[in-house]
Amino acid sequence: MEVGRGSFGSKIGVVLATAGSAVGLGNVWRFPYTAGENGGAAFILIYIGCIMLLGIPGMVSEFIVGRHAQANAAKAYDVLSNGRPWKFVGYLGILTSTIILGFYAVVAGWCLQYLFASIAGQINGDAEYVKNYFVSFSSDPLKPTLWGVAFILITHFVIVRGVRHGIEKASKLLMPILFILLLILVVASCMLPGALGGIRFLLHPDFSKLSSSVMLEALGQAFFSLSLGTACLCTYASYFTKDTNLLRSASQIAVIDTLIAVLSGLMIFPAAFSVGVNPDSGPSLIFITLPNVFQQAFSAIPALGYVVSIMFYALLVFAALTSTISMHEIGTAFFTEEFELPRKKSAWVQTIVAGIICVFCSLSVGAYSDLQLMGFSLMDFCDRLTANFLLPLGAMLACLFVGWYIPKQVVRDEFTNEGALRGRLFGVFLFAVRIVCPICITLIFLHQLGIV
Ligand code: PHE
Repeated sequence: MEVGRGSFGSKIGVVLATAGSAVGLGNVWRFPYTAGENGGAAFILIYIGCIMLLGIPGMVSEFIVGRHAQANAAKAYDVLSNGRPWKFVGYLGILTSTIILGFYAVVAGWCLQYLFASIAGQINGDAEYVKNYFVSFSSDPLKPTLWGVAFILITHFVIVRGVRHGIEKASKLLMPILFILLLILVVASCMLPGALGGIRFLLHPDFSKLSSSVMLEALGQAFFSLSLGTACLCTYASYFTKDTNLLRSASQIAVIDTLIAVLSGLMIFPAAFSVGVNPDSGPSLIFITLPNVFQQAFSAIPALGYVVSIMFYALLVFAALTSTISMHEIGTAFFTEEFELPRKKSAWVQTIVAGIICVFCSLSVGAYSDLQLMGFSLMDFCDRLTANFLLPLGAMLACLFVGWYIPKQVVRDEFTNEGALRGRLFGVFLFAVRIVCPICITLIFLHQLGIV
């Protein structure tokens, strides 16, 4: 290992930090409304298929590259390909995660603002009031932008503390709190009158809604949720120890991630159904629909509504933070190692680049709605570009690289920890990364282009 490179200090640290990257707004916010729009349980089944068939093999591939090279993403691909252009897969991942950090921080900033506003008791009023509150907040030229930048700065201060004292410590603290908050909210939501409708909606598949574009949504959501194709997993794996079981860790993280996504659905849908709100109401779900739902659902005991709303936004903030930390780390590790900058300085570089993207994305959905690209607001454009294109592309290249390019012996050694593990599923893994993943992802791209 290079002198001065960080590493995670424990197995639980490895799983919690990587699960922290995976579990984020993608689970708590994006998953429920995407499932709501695309057939509930039918979508979830396709989603779980994508996670098992493509997600876990993809994760293990990125882990293999990162742990073998013990370097930032660009260098990792460079080392393993002896200077061939594969290095660009690393660059692509770094670029993708920086773009995601930029637009993700916008929503994370809104969550932070809503956390403070709920503590101050400001999101209190009828449906019209809550809606106007969001509209006037999000169209303000300054406020949402400042909250987004503040979120990146909070991430920055965790990152500069290093891998073990910053990333690992924060994940060990935040992930258990997040899980407990979620469980409390699920119980509260499922106990509301009429909650059964929401549970049924989530667990009863409506196959008539399935179409090829739903498949694409499920795939994009699966990759986004596992942080796949961004070089994030590759960078974190460079801090794994040699005895980390890569397949087991990937499976544990996928299970935690899926569990939290489904639990988030069980937190949102029963509450929404109980007050007769349509759950497929898109991105505004957590800022307009839910504050209303909480108020109506707990109108008999307003204090409970107050506490639930604080817990909900705290949950979102913690989930977002463990994810932004991972996106930030990719760039920070890259600048530190590639340009031999001290960690503090490279963290600032990443903060500034992501901060600029965040400012423009925030303005594009607020005060300057003419900031558009190809008919989408800059924010939506970045979201679609990454989830539907860059993430699948990054994941496919990682699979091709591990499946076909690097020597099979290196792959086997990493998979089995140099023979310490039996690696009974090695053949299945290799088949998945060589054949299944590339074919599935190519089909999806061709479909997007209207060719198949
Ligand atoms: N997986 C995170 C979520 O679900 C988002 C993320 C994407 C994090 C890419 C890191 C890299 O919210």
